Amino acid sequence: MISSVLRATIDDWRLPDGGPLLPTLEAMIRPALMSGHFGSSATLIVGGIQYHLGGERDTRELANLVSLTAGDDVLDVCCFLGGPAVQLAQSLECRVTGIDISQAFVAAASQIARLSGLDHLVRFCAGDAASLPFQNERFTVVWSQCSLEHDQAWLREFDRVLAPGGRLALTFAIRRDNPNESSPLWTLQDVMGLVHGLGYRIDRAQDITERDIEIGWKALDRELSQRERDFTAVLGRDWVRHAHQEFAGEIRAMREGRWGNGRIVATKGRAGDAVASAAPPQPGAAPSAIASRPLDQAALSRAHSNASPSREHGLKPAHSPFRSSWGTDTGQVPHTGHRRWPRQPFWHPSGDMRPFTTGCTPLLHSGHSDQVVLVLL
Ligand SMILES: C[S@@+](CC[C@H](N)C(=O)[O-])C[C@H]1O[C@@H](n2cnc3c(N)ncnc32)[C@H](O)[C@@H]1O
Repeated sequence: MISSVLRATIDDWRLPDGGPLLPTLEAMIRPALMSGHFGSSATLIVGGIQYHLGGERDTRELANLVSLTAGDDVLDVCCFLGGPAVQLAQSLECRVTGIDISQAFVAAASQIARLSGLDHLVRFCAGDAASLPFQNERFTVVWSQCSLEHDQAWLREFDRVLAPGGRLALTFAIRRDNPNESSPLWTLQDVMGLVHGLGYRIDRAQDITERDIEIGWKALDRELSQRERDFTAVLGRDWVRHAHQEFAGEIRAMREGRWGNGRIVATKGRAGDAVASAAPPQPGAAPSAIASRPLDQAALSRAHSNASPSREHGLKPAHSPFRSSWGTDTGQVPHTGHRRWPRQPFWHPSGDMRPFTTGCTPLLHSGHSDQVVLVLL
């Protein structure tokens, strides 16, 4: 029996008064998430406004590792709804520019930033990570969580827009040491070698697979159990069962070494630096092998003054042979020539959402990119 009908449009989003910002935002966007408006991945629907393993905690840890301060001008590549950007701006008062291939995500992220009262610090634009619409050396930090294509064009673009002395903060999927697994993913050592080869000092490189099982997949599974009644009411018993299976499958895949996650924090060299000549440190090695140096303040303030994007947003998806390891449990998604993230491509280069049908009890979708109708049974 239909007990209520919720109609939510992004333009009508309002923050209820009071409450801590991120949970409040989470509650506000929950109907749109559960309606599949932003995609059908169970990770996304259960995880909420931060679409990576570890949520707010991962964002806080990475910010500490890269020593983010209020003086930083951060580019968040593949920003989704801007949850991490809002968290960083709110907690550290740094400036954050988020970029994402999906115009629908960017529109929603911009609305969320405005409602949060953080739009003086945070802004969003649509664009492709393989061809960033920004001037050279524009940012002091290039940041990306759980999104890196294993495509060197991405790393070259990150390097191009990062000011000398700026820092890279990345979490990403990795291939681990399972000799039976033929995977196109880079290993953590591959990423370290590539970043080092671009002239960076590796400050930190860690395999965070075990951590992501604990604070990622298990946390998502707990969240699903705690809110099982709501998820069942909206998405159905089968969806909930599949979501539990999906999280368990990802834990198995990680435990069996089929894939994992890594993170890297690295500092870009400046002209005359010798950072690239030394061998890169081993994963997990203390960064003390390379002394920390002061940032090039002149270059950083030059970067700050380059305030606007230099190119228009040409949405040309990356054509990479890389396939996401997020498909390990259910088989690979056929490569469409577009970014195939997550298992089912749910975005279109035009930014329009595809109808939401996968694995759920039928939900109504208005077909209009900024309007969803959610029926609660
Ligand atoms: C797993 S989500 C990560 C979201 C975000 N980093 C977070 O942690 O909340 C991956 C994001 O990458 C975006 N994306 C995929 N391909 C992209 C590309 N070529 N350029 C920019 N963004 C892209 C997707 O639209 C999606 O929002």
